[in-house]
Amino acid sequence: MCGIVGYTGGKSVVDILIDGLRQLEYRGYDSSGVAVKCGEDIKVYKAEGKLENLCKVLSPYKDELKTATCGIGHIRWATHGAPTVLNAHPHTCTCGRLALVHNGIIENYKEIREKLEKEGCTFRSQTDTEVAAHLVAKKYAQTKDLTEAVRLATKELEGAYALCVMHNDYKNTIVATKRNAPLLVGVGDGEFFAASDVPAIIKYTNRAMYLNDNEIVTLTPEKMVLINSDGKEIPQKIETLPWEPVALSKRGYKHFMLKEIHEQPDVIRNILVGKLHAPDEPIVLNEVKLNKDTLKNLNRIQIIACGTSLHAAMVGKYLIENFCGIAVDVEASSEYIYRKTVTDSHTLVIGVSQSGETADTLTAIRQAKEKGSHALIITNRPDSAMARLADSLIPVNAGIEVSVAATKSYTAQLMAFYLLALYMAEVKNSVDKSTLTSLKSELMLLPQKVERILAHTENIQKCARAYASTKDFIYIARGINFPTALEGALKLKEISYINATGYPAGELKHGPIAMLDETMPVLSILMRGCVYEKLLSNSEEAKARNARMIALTNSDDEKLDDLFDYIIRVPEVQELFSPVIAMVPLQLLAYYIAEFLGKDVDQPRNLAKSVTVE
Ligand code: F6R
Repeated sequence: MCGIVGYTGGKSVVDILIDGLRQLEYRGYDSSGVAVKCGEDIKVYKAEGKLENLCKVLSPYKDELKTATCGIGHIRWATHGAPTVLNAHPHTCTCGRLALVHNGIIENYKEIREKLEKEGCTFRSQTDTEVAAHLVAKKYAQTKDLTEAVRLATKELEGAYALCVMHNDYKNTIVATKRNAPLLVGVGDGEFFAASDVPAIIKYTNRAMYLNDNEIVTLTPEKMVLINSDGKEIPQKIETLPWEPVALSKRGYKHFMLKEIHEQPDVIRNILVGKLHAPDEPIVLNEVKLNKDTLKNLNRIQIIACGTSLHAAMVGKYLIENFCGIAVDVEASSEYIYRKTVTDSHTLVIGVSQSGETADTLTAIRQAKEKGSHALIITNRPDSAMARLADSLIPVNAGIEVSVAATKSYTAQLMAFYLLALYMAEVKNSVDKSTLTSLKSELMLLPQKVERILAHTENIQKCARAYASTKDFIYIARGINFPTALEGALKLKEISYINATGYPAGELKHGPIAMLDETMPVLSILMRGCVYEKLLSNSEEAKARNARMIALTNSDDEKLDDLFDYIIRVPEVQELFSPVIAMVPLQLLAYYIAEFLGKDVDQPRNLAKSVTVE
């Protein structure tokens, strides 16, 4: 959450900062701002809301700022203080000679602020960040050395931060540092970049250095100097990023979300490449280091994730328990990290994260590793902090996901769990060969089935129009599709702001059924298999309370026509693989409802794609 960029070199800095911030908009869009070195001064420009507002603010100064070649920028997801111009970054010290941008949360900001106010600092915002600007300025007044000032100031900060700092006394220098928040330096020819994430710099360079916690880098166009927290110069580890400059285009789709939903057949094919050649061949997971002995040594698995990734994890539990007979717990990372967990060297911990940056999941994985667990990471970002913690890794290769609401990365995570569960079953010998072969054949058929759904969306669009005016929505399912109900509801509430909830259908009569009447839509995810008849009965119970019934089903059972007001049909699929097939229409339903309501589909209010604060 929040994105920062910095640049020093020979090019016009404003364009580079705006371009970088645009690539980081997925990290927040509450406000944005830049600080640029203009002659002797640092000039700061800020705007509330989306980046285009900042562009408007900058527009009258275009010519004046053209020659500026050093600056820092920020895109905000508000944590402390409302999303106003006053709280937007960059923040400056009392005299305005130092500017700073920050991603993270400074936890001890209240104590520091009180102390600095007593010493005469004038605070202008309600943010935690402003204390860092004043603190670095104070240390600078004592040392007259910006790098040393940053080093001394960060020793007093608690919490998470990535910081970029500039000062009037320095013509073209940026000092950057981080702790528990991402930051990398892009290395160009006579220029350096600092950024929260690769997309902000990849257009300019693919050579980069990821900063480790507490390292401090000083950038000028000529060189960078890296020091550790003791102030000692340390070697630089510049690497070539495995990224191509990507044109983030909607390719003709109205929104990135719709484009990403339509990419799912290819996403499924991509993750299978090199891992599943043929149904009768074993699954190859090169970066998974779990052999027969390690698996024998395990007495439990904990899968840890947040949001959509947590729902993929719940499907993962079902699959691993079903195929491998190992007990699996699924935990929301934010709950896992503040209790005594029974985790040890006999526990396999699986972290699931699209971004590989989610603060709670990162902390949970670190805690589990400290207790001796093997950490297997499933992520869309093999270059992320989480991937760097991995003992075993499954990159899901879904490609960049721009839309804040996750779609294709969810499907890719499900695929990773199919591959992992079947792989473990092969290693453990827990499923017979012919069953494994038939399961793998079915897995390979999924792309075509998803393509068939995507080729005929008219019925889903019609359903979306029919239910768009509802205030509430209930999704029910059982077994392996209970997570599908949760994820379907999450998609709808995220982008349309309709109050949607997923329930295990058997739980309806234990409370939620009280909410049902003729105004409440109930969507039943009715996939043929072991819980089909049970769910049908639960749907009857809802119908008897006059709910507006919708079925998402792969059944052609005629009795459904009487029971349901609306039926969305999907291709035939084995129950175990139905979460992939069932989710696609639910993503589309949420999309079309939000689109029909005129919502900001790709950037829904209050959300950010990377949640880098606890
Ligand atoms: C929902 C969504 C979020 C994320 C969650 C975890 O559409 O995208 O719920 O799934 O913030 O993020 P990652 O997967 O990056 O750890």
